Amino acid sequence: MLHTIQKLIGENKKKLYFPIFLMCIDSLGSMSLYFMLYLTVLDLFYGTLTMQNVFNYTLVCLVSVIYRIIIYRKSYLLCFKNAFTVTGQLRIDLADHFRKLSLGYFNQNSTGYLISTLTNDIRSFEGVLSHALSFLIKTVTLCGLILIGTFFINWKLALAECVVLIFSAPLLHYGNRLVSRFGIKKRNLTNQMISTVMEYMKGIKVFKSHNMTSTHFSRLLESLEKVRKVSVNIECRMAPSTALYSIIVNFLMPLVLLWGSYMLLGGGITSETLIAFLIMSIAISALLISFEHYYILLKDLKLAAENLEKAMEQSPLPYSDHSFILNDYSVEFQHVHFSYDNGKEVLHDISFTAPNGSVTALIGPSGSGKSTVANLIARFWDVNSGTITIGGRHIMELNPDCLLESISAVFQENTLLSDTILGNILVGNPNAGMEEVIRATKAACCHDFISSLPQGYQTVVAEGGASLSGGEKQRIAIARAILKNAPILLLDESTASLDADNEAKINVALDYLMKEKTVFVIAHRLNTIQNADQILLLNQGHIEEMGSHDKLMAQKGHYYSMVREQEKAKTWIAKEA
Ligand SMILES: Nc1ncnc2c1ncn2[C@@H]1O[C@H](COP(=O)(O)OP(=O)(O)OP(=O)(O)O)[C@@H](O)[C@H]1O
Ligand SMILES: [Mg+2]
Repeated sequence: MLHTIQKLIGENKKKLYFPIFLMCIDSLGSMSLYFMLYLTVLDLFYGTLTMQNVFNYTLVCLVSVIYRIIIYRKSYLLCFKNAFTVTGQLRIDLADHFRKLSLGYFNQNSTGYLISTLTNDIRSFEGVLSHALSFLIKTVTLCGLILIGTFFINWKLALAECVVLIFSAPLLHYGNRLVSRFGIKKRNLTNQMISTVMEYMKGIKVFKSHNMTSTHFSRLLESLEKVRKVSVNIECRMAPSTALYSIIVNFLMPLVLLWGSYMLLGGGITSETLIAFLIMSIAISALLISFEHYYILLKDLKLAAENLEKAMEQSPLPYSDHSFILNDYSVEFQHVHFSYDNGKEVLHDISFTAPNGSVTALIGPSGSGKSTVANLIARFWDVNSGTITIGGRHIMELNPDCLLESISAVFQENTLLSDTILGNILVGNPNAGMEEVIRATKAACCHDFISSLPQGYQTVVAEGGASLSGGEKQRIAIARAILKNAPILLLDESTASLDADNEAKINVALDYLMKEKTVFVIAHRLNTIQNADQILLLNQGHIEEMGSHDKLMAQKGHYYSMVREQEKAKTWIAKEA
């Protein structure tokens, strides 16, 4: 457990040593209060209590309290500061680690799981590092010191304290097992619940349009109900052992009284010793009761830590060349086979060469693998077999971050960040000035609509771009790509949701953008790709036809019939109009 914590926080663990040490010193301060109590009871016992004694004891208590306030404040603040620094770093490390993983990891794990790992698990960590860990160490130190002290005074009576510890330990262990057993179940259900809530919120428009809000609301309720049930179940199962633990721990003082009185009457110990033991047993009971609360938190952390460790152990995409310079951006696929995580192969033996500065159009029916080819060029996934090279370099050798610097992409779903429009465009090139941004937005035909908004470029876009139309989002994504000006361009149906007027303008902008770049364009309207250097017609993950428009038309194969079909459809539409 401590090993896992150490592994996760690495060298940062040293930051926690000093505040924990201060907490231990603070616990020594609290012992002086018990000692004053002991002296007062003795004075009462012997009838020697004077105002001078009371004054002295009060003074010691006062000094001890001031001393503790100073130490406690310092250690408390340090604990908080360092715990938040350590967990803040852990959050950054984890987010950075996620960034380096293949998209397959996100395919396999639900949104709920990923959100819960980045938020709940790290919050558990934060809670334990800021509160529980130091308190537990302080409690163990104080209990240990008191017990060692009592053994020196009278080992036989000290054994009575150990009996209580021996009986209470299995209950702690039992509680711990319950947390482990049901904690995993609760975690899985909570992850499911987060996914369902996200799905409900994101899909509310679709559900409303299909009048399915009540169906999906009942799914949400079901999910919430499951979490409620498991939470109540954990508490109900924990309650008997927690109650029994409290009874046993509170039984320490009566046990010491019983056993101590027997020893006193037999002449084994003095009455002073018995009083000291009674006071110490009250102190130990109080410590053990709060120990249980923090111990359960620690066990909850175990699950969080295991989860975090598992996420951190996922290997990022491997590469050998950290920084590289490519002089040529030709892309070559050689016998590429690929399947997503479900194991079903979606690309079969794909081989083609896209020379530097050429335009390759990918066409084919829905689900034929066009977007998958684009995803593989950006190395969002690794191929199962075969090779992809860029400028003659094996893609798997290249640092994925540097590789992505060479690629601009406009995908089918253009997700915008909940930032200003300017912020969203600057993603393409954070160092660009306003002039460059405006040049890019003008080229992408979105300057006018952005300027007409009340806050212009400073308009904040709703999460995912919900406050903009599909066409507006797409034009912003194109402006972003223009601003990035990378040598490889991936355009996935980038003109699909534009009206005819804007589409013509965008095509002019894209022609400009595509100059001297290696371009992959995925388009459903075949008239937009007739000038491409080569056309790849994909069908069920195979390359069915490959060549220029003229060549494929001359072949009179599938491409030829697709073009004819689209032309016929256009004529019908024109006639009907
Ligand atoms: N993330 C994913 N996980 C699992 N399977 C996927 C994933 N993305 C796509 N697929 C599957 O891979 C196959 C190819 O999908 P792809 O998105 O490449 O098709 P496409 O040709 O781009 O289709 P469209 O024209 O509809 O965009 C499909 O069968 C699809 O179901
Ligand atoms: Mg697609």
